[in-house]
Amino acid sequence: MLEISEDGRTWILSGPTSSYALHVTEHQELVHLHWGARIALADAEALAVRPLPEYWPFESPLDGREEYPVEGGPRFTRPALSVRTDERRGTEWTFERYEADGDELRIRFRDAGLTVTLHYRIRGDVVERWVTLENQGPVIEVLRADSATWTLPHRDGWRLSQLHGRWAAESRLVRSDLTYGEKVIGSRRGHTGHQHLPWVALDSDATEESGEVYGCALGWSGSWRIAVAQLPDARVQITGGAGHDDSGLLRLAAGESFTTPVFAGLWSDGGFGGASRAWHAYQRAYVIPDAGRDRPVLFNSWEATEFDISEEQQRALAQRAAEMGVELFVVDDGWFGARTSDRAGLGDWTPNPDRFPGGLKPLADHVHGLGMQFGIWVEPEMVNPDSELYRAHPDWVQYQPGRKRTEFRNQLVLNLAREDVQEYLWEQLDGLLSSAPIDYVKWDFNRCFTDAGWPGDPYPQRLWVDHVHALYALFDRLRAAHPGVAFESCSGGGGRIDLGVLSRTDQVWTSDNTDPLDRLAIQEGFSQIHPARVMAAWVTDSPNVMLNGRISSLRFRFVSAMAGVLGVGGDLTKWTAEELAEARDWVSLYKEIRPLVQRGDLYRLRPPRGGLSAVQYVLGDEAVVLAWLQAQSYGEPVPALRLRGLDPTASYECRETGEVYRGAVLLHHGLRTGLRGDLDAAVIRLRRI
Ligand code: GLA
Repeated sequence: MLEISEDGRTWILSGPTSSYALHVTEHQELVHLHWGARIALADAEALAVRPLPEYWPFESPLDGREEYPVEGGPRFTRPALSVRTDERRGTEWTFERYEADGDELRIRFRDAGLTVTLHYRIRGDVVERWVTLENQGPVIEVLRADSATWTLPHRDGWRLSQLHGRWAAESRLVRSDLTYGEKVIGSRRGHTGHQHLPWVALDSDATEESGEVYGCALGWSGSWRIAVAQLPDARVQITGGAGHDDSGLLRLAAGESFTTPVFAGLWSDGGFGGASRAWHAYQRAYVIPDAGRDRPVLFNSWEATEFDISEEQQRALAQRAAEMGVELFVVDDGWFGARTSDRAGLGDWTPNPDRFPGGLKPLADHVHGLGMQFGIWVEPEMVNPDSELYRAHPDWVQYQPGRKRTEFRNQLVLNLAREDVQEYLWEQLDGLLSSAPIDYVKWDFNRCFTDAGWPGDPYPQRLWVDHVHALYALFDRLRAAHPGVAFESCSGGGGRIDLGVLSRTDQVWTSDNTDPLDRLAIQEGFSQIHPARVMAAWVTDSPNVMLNGRISSLRFRFVSAMAGVLGVGGDLTKWTAEELAEARDWVSLYKEIRPLVQRGDLYRLRPPRGGLSAVQYVLGDEAVVLAWLQAQSYGEPVPALRLRGLDPTASYECRETGEVYRGAVLLHHGLRTGLRGDLDAAVIRLRRI
């Protein structure tokens, strides 16, 4: 809901539990009034006339109060907007007008030929913000254009939560006290990166299920930056957007415009768990395509076979996968061009004739005949120098004139800002999806930008932004032309996970780390912001082949992966008849609990910190608990799990044991899991009776 004061200078957006209010002063300053618990328009108006605190000449009264601090004038904070023309630098704007459009508010300012429009839209309790720049004057260089600056209220001591990582260790949660100065996270790698998910949360006294939490998440799949600043008077602002540095994002000639990605903000008073559930509901309702449709159980042989694949071998795996109840069979890397290792073939998206003599169609038909969907792996934005594509177009990659072309994993990054490259990829992928009945595409991105140059282009910096726009356009075009095809975003595991890519893909590959114990922490972090509906997780072999040789039971591996979108990624030709039978039972159990996992409310009951950890999903009258015991020490009894989200006055039947529990008892005294020893796990289903 959007309400506007009579004088048209104070606005308040309200969701079910929260409000966001702002005001433009007579001095053309757009000031922040309120973000937090729901208030009325009259409250916002009262805030708008509250006198400012007195400032000494060494501080600015604007700092920490503005909705979108521009560069220039009496401001000393990091600017959200930094522009320059041949003549001058910075912005001095005047308020032009506002436009209200349902739950969307647009506030327009003008500085000479430049129009800056701030967009606000409330969806549930999530406020989406972005900015449009339109130039009608001489050329403007946009050094920096953040999507939004968020202002927090005064509290005693802020704490920052972030998700950090690296390859095979993504999205691990850390929480630390905020101190004076700035904390900057981001990526200068050209993609979202494994190092941080573009999300922060701030609280002063929250617990998992209580207290105020402010969260901000950016929808951008290229380089990005979020800066959290605690100013000298302890005010906190969070500013973020595309690009990492302030060294030039793009240039706008007369008639050109730029729209930033969305930076979404959420206030919740339900603790970290409440905030996560609100983020999940928002993404299911507004971001993820077709989120009401559950994702199928998939099989992928990458860990088992790597590049050593053939049609016959894939047929044999498909047979076993189908018997296990798998619903989607995916051929990973190695099916195309001269791709028998990571040294060749990227860029040539036609089936390898030695491996798939009749193309992909015979295998796809066979897989369909077994009752499964068929999927493939691609990495369209890349090229191996040893490929037909590179031999024909060595200038289609990102490179700096006269400098060496850095190879990572023997590959270079295509310059997707080029229209000929965009067209080539469209033709290749459209042709591929038309050549065989393909239902699913795992879209990978396996190296960072290093030599992002574009010889001959007058403003080569723009390729950083244009690459992402071209990627999004390609997804949009492919989805429109092939509406039955689902896409997975992968980047060496979880290197490209953000609200931007999630609005165009159906799920993400969470991590190349498939160790079921490491995954618990990765999944805990992931779940802070994104729902299980998009979190792909595979059961692979034991000992773990990719990473650490850890030995774990099939039970532990399955229960770990069942917390997300279940997949199987082991070498099924080596699994015993007993293992295959056990796996079949787990897959069928997953299908039963899938609506809860993929569409239910998530409660993190205990974090994975050595002993017992658990999550619970609740949907309607049903709940399911997934519990893991890493290690039992000193023979001490494993604690009962206090459940959440149940009706205290109702009774619940345990589907595993038939026992009946009172809701209040489960909520206050807990559920005994029966777990013991090391690496034990259980799935416990409850139904209200
Ligand atoms: C990346 C992915 C893996 C696999 C390989 C194939 O590393 O994360 O799952 O697809 O590429 O080369």
